[in-house]
Amino acid sequence: MTFPALVKNSVETIEWTPEGVVMIDQTRLPREVVYVTCRGYVEVADAIRTMIIRGAPAIGVAAAMGVAVGVLQSRDLEAEMPIICETLAKTRPTAVNLFWAIDRMRRLYESLRGEPLDAIRERLVREAQQIKLEDIAINQAIGANGAPLVPDGKTVLTHCNAGALATAGFGTALGVIRAAVQAGKKIDVFADETRPFLQGARLTAWELQQDGIETTLITDNMAGHFLKSGRIGCVIVGADRIAANGDVANKIGTYGVAVLAKENNVPFYVAAPISTLDLALASGDQIPIEERASAEVTHVQGVHVAPEGIQVANPAFDVTPNRYVTAIVTERGVARAPYQESLPGLAGKALD
Ligand code: MRU
Repeated sequence: MTFPALVKNSVETIEWTPEGVVMIDQTRLPREVVYVTCRGYVEVADAIRTMIIRGAPAIGVAAAMGVAVGVLQSRDLEAEMPIICETLAKTRPTAVNLFWAIDRMRRLYESLRGEPLDAIRERLVREAQQIKLEDIAINQAIGANGAPLVPDGKTVLTHCNAGALATAGFGTALGVIRAAVQAGKKIDVFADETRPFLQGARLTAWELQQDGIETTLITDNMAGHFLKSGRIGCVIVGADRIAANGDVANKIGTYGVAVLAKENNVPFYVAAPISTLDLALASGDQIPIEERASAEVTHVQGVHVAPEGIQVANPAFDVTPNRYVTAIVTERGVARAPYQESLPGLAGKALD
């Protein structure tokens, strides 16, 4: 497969350094641009769990680097490799990229059994760095495939953050937007704030502002109003897991946006790498949905906004049924319904 040449990342999300795995702390953006260094695999697992790093492809890269750090420090790989993998796999349940990356590292380790320890270590570290580089290139290919779908002269609505921060660089949904802008299209972006964790307000708005892409921040409950107005040319979101029938798990609130888009005849596009497909699951009903801490709902940026003792529900993701999904943009092409046929076709497609 030949990927387009790499363009510079506006934001470095995660990096392998001699000191450890360095990540931009996404819990503190945009108020502070702070980097944290994870020196062991448990620290990497904590960073994923606490959302210092988040976004499906980014946590895949982080997990791969976590395995590599664990392998570097282990004195007994045979005993510790399963523990390292399990610790990282237990961090977050919904985004399948996490399990995909850990599996890729585990399978490579198994193929190297019997080799000298230093050679195994060197190979696994290289693999984790390779997963990162591939992710950036994949996102650029997603961008190239998706840019022609974006109507010129209109506004693109997005939900959550599926940008450089959610990946190793360039982004999936925001990668399509970046590629459309690079192709000369005159577009602007409406970013849903994305309660409760505010990935849209804190991360998407910040990231697009860094790139000089015209962006308007709206609260989640304004999406229907603007979708009805005729100004939104399309919706583009990322995904955490896509079932074989094209049902899409993504950030909570995505389903509502998709229904509102269909009601108003606005195309609803999902941009995701092939590693986000989980073709073992027949439908989205089988996708595990993470339930996060109630404090994310009762508090806004540390300020208590709800009565003490109130019951809270906090599912971090929802599943959008395939009938609302106009197309799924991947690095290997654009899938349309019936997804049971188009997705396996793309997943099995030989790379150019
Ligand atoms: O809880 P998060 O912030 O990890 O959720 C992220 C999302 O839902 C993204 O839209 C998805 O991972 C795609 S990122 C390219």
